[in-house]
Amino acid sequence: MNPSSSHDSDFLYEKIAGEIRSLIETGTLSPGDKLPSVRKLSGQKKVSISTILQAYMALESEKLIEARPQSGFYVSSVSLLRFPEPLEFCPSDSPRTVEVADNVMELFKAAGRSDIVSLGVNCTMPELISNHKLGKIMSRVSRDHSEFLSRYMFHAADPEFARQISVRSFDYGCNLHPEEIIATCGCTEAFNLCLRAVAGAGDTIAVESPTYYGILEIIESLDMKAVSICTDPKNGVCLQELTNTLEEHDVKACVLMPNFQNPLGYRMSAERKRKTLEILDDYGVPLIEDDIYGDLHFRGNRPRPFKAFDQTGSVLLCSSFSKTLAPGLRLGWVAAGNYRDRILRLKYLNTMGTPEAPQRALAEFLKSGGYDRHLRNLRSSFQRHICQMSQAVYQYFPEGALVTRPEGGNLLWVQLPETIDTQELYRRAMERNIVIAPGSLFSACCLSACIPHDEPCLFRNCLRLTCGAPCEGKVEAAIKTLGELAVDIASGVDSGQKAG
Ligand SMILES: Cc1ncc(COP(=O)(O)O)c(C=O)c1O
Repeated sequence: MNPSSSHDSDFLYEKIAGEIRSLIETGTLSPGDKLPSVRKLSGQKKVSISTILQAYMALESEKLIEARPQSGFYVSSVSLLRFPEPLEFCPSDSPRTVEVADNVMELFKAAGRSDIVSLGVNCTMPELISNHKLGKIMSRVSRDHSEFLSRYMFHAADPEFARQISVRSFDYGCNLHPEEIIATCGCTEAFNLCLRAVAGAGDTIAVESPTYYGILEIIESLDMKAVSICTDPKNGVCLQELTNTLEEHDVKACVLMPNFQNPLGYRMSAERKRKTLEILDDYGVPLIEDDIYGDLHFRGNRPRPFKAFDQTGSVLLCSSFSKTLAPGLRLGWVAAGNYRDRILRLKYLNTMGTPEAPQRALAEFLKSGGYDRHLRNLRSSFQRHICQMSQAVYQYFPEGALVTRPEGGNLLWVQLPETIDTQELYRRAMERNIVIAPGSLFSACCLSACIPHDEPCLFRNCLRLTCGAPCEGKVEAAIKTLGELAVDIASGVDSGQKAG
């Protein structure tokens, strides 16, 4: 097939789906309204029937429209667009030491249990990401390259691996040179190295609020401080607050996730990315960027990371294949701009190098073209899971629950009424073998240990849910149980009372 014609038709169906989506969003089309027949719309738009069908199917997978047998397509009666999203969040903060590690460890331990419904740690069901072809390539590479086992790895990355990352980076406007890529053990190591390259103990790092608890854990382990920047679930960090924070505090680096942020799921616009970099450059503050969810967009093209706008080499771009392909490979990378040499030295100190065989296997898998097909399936599964989970939350959780509407990734952030403490919900859910991630984990300072009693814990009424599996069977039952527990907490019923 001619690649440009397939690209054109992708573009066309997305454009048509976008037009219909915006008619639903603005209320021009209401729940129950009938859409034009596929044949009629194809005539009106002068595009093929399959393009219209593709557009309708995309909207159907977002649960915006539904097909009724022998009748056609209708605006869905449970369209998620009817539901409100969480409001803008907390104010920015002053620098604090961080205390999350013990709570995160508890979450990780529970996630490893087979009797648990794990909605806390972000894992995807193995059937969705395990890839038979990658497994076969791994075996072949191990067989054909015994030298990978008998020597130290003295390069920043396997040259083939670096080349594949570089080739893919053209797609999202980065044009990374293979020499820039340093392979790491997951995004976690990339982060760790970046923070150590730009700051030391006692230094302050600016983070989104809420942010991924893994970042907070690393900041904690390096004895650094975090300063939270007010972040809204649709647009990302507040740029005025960022400026104020940089003006007031001696910030050594800023950590941001512009594409499908964990936990809020927003995607920053290109314009805001550009402005953010301008601000950081004005204050000479490097940006550590986590783009681990960048390939998991539900619509349009893959969004560009900050790195695509970087004119000064001050962006350290980190990513990995843990969310899209194989968390067990522990394979990530960093393109660190001006900090490359420093990171490389730290990498040698840390682990000497990243194992070569997995890098080469992944490179061969990427070269074979299987990855893009795999990503397409994964994205549409995640989008379906997100829709199902959002609807289950609205169905089973107490009145007033608000849910984010992510544009990619596999996470949902839920804001419950003020009276519901999700730390208590976490405790009660754990007794029923359900694990959630309470909101307090996503804040630079959380839980009673470091919060003065008169200061409410940030996000104490929020939680994050992982949508790595369909919201069916025991996952749906778990959401129902969580809803009942939340109602009990809101109405002051204690768990012992209920059990008795
Ligand atoms: C935003 C973000 N960054 C990094 C990681 C960890 O990545 P890795 O498993 O590659 O170390 C996660 C895992 O949940 C994540 O959500």
